[in-house]
Amino acid sequence: MRRATVFLFFVLIAASQFASAQDKTADQGVYTSAQAARGASVFEAHCVTCHKEGGTAPVLAGARFTKSFADSTLLAVFTTIQTTMPRQAPASLTGTEYVDALAYLLKLNGYPDGMTELAVGGLGDIKVPGQGGSLEFTLVHVVGCLAQMGRTWTLSQATDPIRTRAPEPATDAEAADLDRVPFGQRSFRLQQVYGAPPGWMGQKVAAKGFLTRSGTEERVNVTSLRTLTTQCS
Ligand code: HEC
Repeated sequence: MRRATVFLFFVLIAASQFASAQDKTADQGVYTSAQAARGASVFEAHCVTCHKEGGTAPVLAGARFTKSFADSTLLAVFTTIQTTMPRQAPASLTGTEYVDALAYLLKLNGYPDGMTELAVGGLGDIKVPGQGGSLEFTLVHVVGCLAQMGRTWTLSQATDPIRTRAPEPATDAEAADLDRVPFGQRSFRLQQVYGAPPGWMGQKVAAKGFLTRSGTEERVNVTSLRTLTTQCS
């Protein structure tokens, strides 16, 4: 018994080292939560004036980030940001501020935090995971308008799916953020929804669950739903 445990442990270490040498990705906990918190302050001070809903620049969470940077190394992302942002004053921040801001962007996009800080020196070895259906079977959240037709529940005018780690309903703080997310153009069939209070119909909701696909239909196997305050049109 004991021997089996030790053996398994060894295999796990070997496997993780193999993975890191092969293709380390932003999925693997490449920044710390403290670093992302510092990055959030950088973002508040230098980025958010443009990068917000209704701002002059795109919101940096969601499919856009993945689309722009899929399969790029974090060094490429870092260099892009450092040499072009803030738009009116490129390269005006310190390397640490840029790398912290990058950690925050990874957090915004649902990549998990881990035990070690992201350092400029290691950026070239880490990739943004590729797009090719990579969110399938991933826990995501989507925001949209809840509708029901017979037994079929859907979310229309929905956002692109964003990775999330927690299957539980969004907290009040998260919900406040999600309420500001603009409606999108996607629609998802919600599975494992067996009823929702009538008042929820036509309401903006945040759904979390595992993303799957059937033909062209995108589905979310729902783990939680929570209403937001905005009404759908
Ligand atoms: C004065 C407005 C402004 C500020 C401030 C600003 N940006 Fe931007 N940013 C833009 C615009 C506009 C674009 C999109 C057009 C482009 O790529 O040139 C952009 C694009 C980006 C992109 C690429 C998005 C993509 O999907 O292609 C990233 C990443 C980014 N900004 C990060 C940042 C960070 C981090 C900061 C703060 C350090 C910041 N920006 C500050 C205006 C701004």
